[in-house]
Amino acid sequence: MNVHQMNVPEAYAGYHLRDLPHEDAELTHVGPGAPCGEYMRRFWQPVCLSQELTDLPHATRILGEDLVAFRDKSGDVGVLHRHCSHRGTSLEYGIVAEHGIRCCYHGWLFGTDGTILETPGEPPNSKLRESFRHGAYPAREYEGLVFAYMGPPDEEPEFPMFDTYYLSDNKLVPYSCHYSCSWLQVHENFVDPIHAVFLHTRLTGTQFTDAWHDLPATEFIEKDAGLYYITTRQVGDRIWVRTNHIMLPNFGQVAALWEAVEKEKLFNRASVTRWSVPIDDTNSWIFGYRHFNDVVDTAGIGKEEECGIDSVDFLGQTGNRPYEERQREPGDWDALVGQRPIAIHAKEHLGTTDRGVAMWRKILREGIRGEGRFAGKPATWGYAGDPIHTYTHDTCLEIPDNGMKGAEQMEYLSQVGREALDCIFSGDALEGEERKSHIEQQLIALRDRYRA
Ligand code: FES
Ligand SMILES: [Fe+2]
Repeated sequence: MNVHQMNVPEAYAGYHLRDLPHEDAELTHVGPGAPCGEYMRRFWQPVCLSQELTDLPHATRILGEDLVAFRDKSGDVGVLHRHCSHRGTSLEYGIVAEHGIRCCYHGWLFGTDGTILETPGEPPNSKLRESFRHGAYPAREYEGLVFAYMGPPDEEPEFPMFDTYYLSDNKLVPYSCHYSCSWLQVHENFVDPIHAVFLHTRLTGTQFTDAWHDLPATEFIEKDAGLYYITTRQVGDRIWVRTNHIMLPNFGQVAALWEAVEKEKLFNRASVTRWSVPIDDTNSWIFGYRHFNDVVDTAGIGKEEECGIDSVDFLGQTGNRPYEERQREPGDWDALVGQRPIAIHAKEHLGTTDRGVAMWRKILREGIRGEGRFAGKPATWGYAGDPIHTYTHDTCLEIPDNGMKGAEQMEYLSQVGREALDCIFSGDALEGEERKSHIEQQLIALRDRYRA
């Protein structure tokens, strides 16, 4: 029974509001057998950084499973169940071998595919090692991140290659950030563009540039496995359209972190490609790449050397700052972890600006259930092609302020934003430079139509 049904006064209602409903288990529980956990296992997931694979094994935990990752001396990467199949000792204390990893306790040797290579204390004629396998997952390394596929072997998808991996002069720098909360609230931050106005700009004054100050016209578009937000603002004599691309179940790209709208830009691509990876129900990693190139960070704020293990060059992305500093200038980490270990959706009051969050939960639920536009399709439907096209962009067009105000201006800006994203979509039949050049021509034509 809520306050209204009880007809009690609105003020001082703490006594009536203290009970916590359960979390939305379908979207937040990720262990083996849980609907969201099983869904996520159908995708390649980052599990650690390559630099964490040294001459020592690396203990990690992903989707509620304790794992050990290592690079054997021949260079092969293994991602194995952490506890030895003999009597359970953690392989984090194992010895990395020429091929595979040897348990420290009785010396059993496990291959990267889980084959038992040696059981040295057993009699020479023992067939024990041939009678079972150790738990192992297929692993892939790409540009400094280690990925594993933890789903059913017969459903293993292609390793996804995104178009932004192939851009010329684009350096991918791997990083991670540990979050002491559910993966879902970390990922939902993507579809909440309004927090950038408040958390990163108005309330702090230092995290982003002045261009972020005004509330944007905001649109959300669904396409294939993706959800896109478009924010559009008039900044001086330019209209700035920014789109972030989010894909099921836990992939996302961020456009320029510190866009300042200081000159015309057409199809400027992502500054971050990342995954929100569950450790378990109440802890998660962001694993991703910061993109460094000449166009995405024209403000010159990014620092490659600050990107690495639990570290990225953007204030407030980890819990590693002193508590008082985090209270005085909170960042994403503080806002997201502050939503409780698992945000309780039944306690929220979603407003107009939370449309993206509501849409995201709906399509995630449909993806998990295989309903709606995901009905009858494999889990990874929408991840087609090599490369997989992404649409994240900043576009700053020389279109002077036409004097519109209020709702009329918002509708006008929304229309420009939608048309800009249509220009990006219009390059889908093309690849690489051809696609870029086509999209740029379309955006120039869009600008000229609005200037006329
Ligand atoms: S517990 Fe690992 S070899 Fe015995
Ligand atoms: Fe943020």
